Amino acid sequence: MFPNTKLVLNVVLLAKSCKYSINFSQISCNFAQNFQKMKDYKRITITSALPYANGPVHIGHLAGVYVPADIYARYNRLKHRDVLFIGGSDEHGVPVTLKARKEGVTPQDIVDRYHKIIKESFEEFGISFDIYGRTSAEIHHKTAAEFFLSLYNKGEFVEKTSMQFYDEQEQQFLADRYIMGTCPKCGAEDAYGDQCEKCGSSLSPTELINPRSMISGNAPVMKETKHWYLPLDKYEEELRHWILEEHKEWKPNVYGQCKSWLDSGLFPRAVTRDLNWGVKVPLEEGKDKVLYVWFDAPIGYISNTKMLYPNDWEKWWKDKDTKLVHFIGKDNIVFHCIIFPSMLRHEGSYILPDNVPANEFLNLEGNKISTSRNWAVWLHEYLRDFEGKQDVLRYVLTANAPETKDNDFSWKDFQTKNNSELVAIMGNFINRAVVLTHKYFGGNVPQPAEDTDYEKEIRAEIARIKESLENNIENYKFREALKDAMAVSRLGNKYLADTEPWKLIKTDEARTRTILYYSLQLCALSATLAEPFLPFTSAKLFKMLNFERPDWESTTKVDLIPVGHKIGEAELLFERIEDAAIDAQLQRLENIKIENEKNNYKPQPVKENVAFDDFMKVDIRVGTVLECFKVPKADKLLQFKIDDGMGGRTIVSGIAKYYTEPEKLVGTQVCFIANFEPRKLKGVVSEGMILSAEDADGRLVLLLPKDLVKCGVRVG
Ligand code: MF3
Ligand code: ZN
Repeated sequence: MFPNTKLVLNVVLLAKSCKYSINFSQISCNFAQNFQKMKDYKRITITSALPYANGPVHIGHLAGVYVPADIYARYNRLKHRDVLFIGGSDEHGVPVTLKARKEGVTPQDIVDRYHKIIKESFEEFGISFDIYGRTSAEIHHKTAAEFFLSLYNKGEFVEKTSMQFYDEQEQQFLADRYIMGTCPKCGAEDAYGDQCEKCGSSLSPTELINPRSMISGNAPVMKETKHWYLPLDKYEEELRHWILEEHKEWKPNVYGQCKSWLDSGLFPRAVTRDLNWGVKVPLEEGKDKVLYVWFDAPIGYISNTKMLYPNDWEKWWKDKDTKLVHFIGKDNIVFHCIIFPSMLRHEGSYILPDNVPANEFLNLEGNKISTSRNWAVWLHEYLRDFEGKQDVLRYVLTANAPETKDNDFSWKDFQTKNNSELVAIMGNFINRAVVLTHKYFGGNVPQPAEDTDYEKEIRAEIARIKESLENNIENYKFREALKDAMAVSRLGNKYLADTEPWKLIKTDEARTRTILYYSLQLCALSATLAEPFLPFTSAKLFKMLNFERPDWESTTKVDLIPVGHKIGEAELLFERIEDAAIDAQLQRLENIKIENEKNNYKPQPVKENVAFDDFMKVDIRVGTVLECFKVPKADKLLQFKIDDGMGGRTIVSGIAKYYTEPEKLVGTQVCFIANFEPRKLKGVVSEGMILSAEDADGRLVLLLPKDLVKCGVRVG
């Protein structure tokens, strides 16, 4: 059984008589807030949402789901609790089939490709799954089909027929995503059957104007089809009670979303689909249908458990002494708080989740992360640019985790958190402690002299930090818990700054021994408490201290590394990240923005017709650039001297921003309007206008004849 986490309320009052002025208030944080008593459980099943295997994973996935889940799993293992941490790929659903169709490969090809990429990313970031499975596995198909049958045999489902779009040429029903048409709300011509990406409205396919099948392009017809529905309306009361009464401790964002779903009334949900990619419906009349992806995916947690523990999986799912916790993003709340629990409860033999600590979303540089617009930091790309810096990203994403509201990731903030927290606080403290120990004591942990009040307070402070950290993790407040972990090196830095052992060594060797003894203990403590958050750094630090990780519970003792123990040499734990690396990332995003704007580009409407004779009035010629330079004191203007075959002319053009090395234009041929009324621009008389095209991003591009022509010839 887990010991109840107990609350130490009698915080030791600091003796005011001590020599140093100590202000710990900025070090320790959030102690004893919102304490939630932990029920005595024997084991914990931790699940993390199964990512769709139709693309790689990005920082939003990591921040919202996998890093918090991993911190929780690692922490509970350190607490000697029996932990099962499940991950895996969600390989069904329409987006996979669409991508396969687009690339001309099979859906299995798509999921094989991304399953591998995603699994590797998680491994590289130290996400410590006990198993990372996949829903295309046979055991999953079997488990999901059995689950369906078990609900079916109990008579839980409601059967209904409805009219659905059908592609007669392809002889198949069309999923919402397979139908396109004109959006009834904004008139966009490429709205999908479930959503218009232009205006964001969610739609149903029958609302589309002029619907067409994305497979054949034909207009679909309506055809009757039968599906099985989970009668959520019938479960409404029990769900209301279970969530709104019994789980008031759930995070406000989760509780609130559930309440609003429940308040607006639940409806039966179809759990089958007319599709051929997914788990086959195990009924004769459903042989051309599959389970809805949201029905089979959460069962993936169970089938992955079975894969890992074929004989012993049930205790993780069916024993009421097991604590089940689902880590998810906010778009998954209804599925994990309402639908999946209803499936589990009505199947009858399963436990329900104890908590569903869903996070909000992480934005990137102020904009929503979007796979289709490539607005993301992909994990495999991050590691290419910041090799070995897994913990830096884990740190920044935890410190900025969107726990209560959407939050932003910015590269500048990433740099600041690395340079002024990881490097300046943790790295700096540990480096000083290790270097000074080598310098003064040959790398051996010195024998401390008698404690002063300062050391006594350090002991008390450590107990408080640890208590706060545990309390925060138990309550899914990982940002606060990370601050607690960092508080150890903050404390150490302050200790060194206050006591200045590099000065004391000359006058008071005994005191110096004490200070370095304590500093080294703080290093070991810091390495232990940081393990759930920064596992790579923690391991590196123990190697540096030449010391095995002590038992988590022993950390309150403070005395971890014995006197006389020889530590290793100082190594760099974190290195500064320079502006150039950050600028390169910002530039990459800037390029993506430009690319996206181009892709969204719609040509300007065509102007009113003009008569041929009117057009012929404009005299366009070709000339060669003889000279080109910036007009002084005019940002935008370039001054050209053009060989027009008639003695030459001067033209001023507003393209300086796009041609930053104007001398390179000398010798190129350009097109210009030769009979433009001369105009004075910034004191220069311009005799014509040089022609350029305006690109989608507003960039002006010169128009050149494809082959060399005589200067002065006409265009038209
Ligand atoms: N694939 C889903 C998503 O990325 C999450 C599935 S969670 C599971 O939003 F429980 F269904 F597995
Ligand atoms: Zn629209």
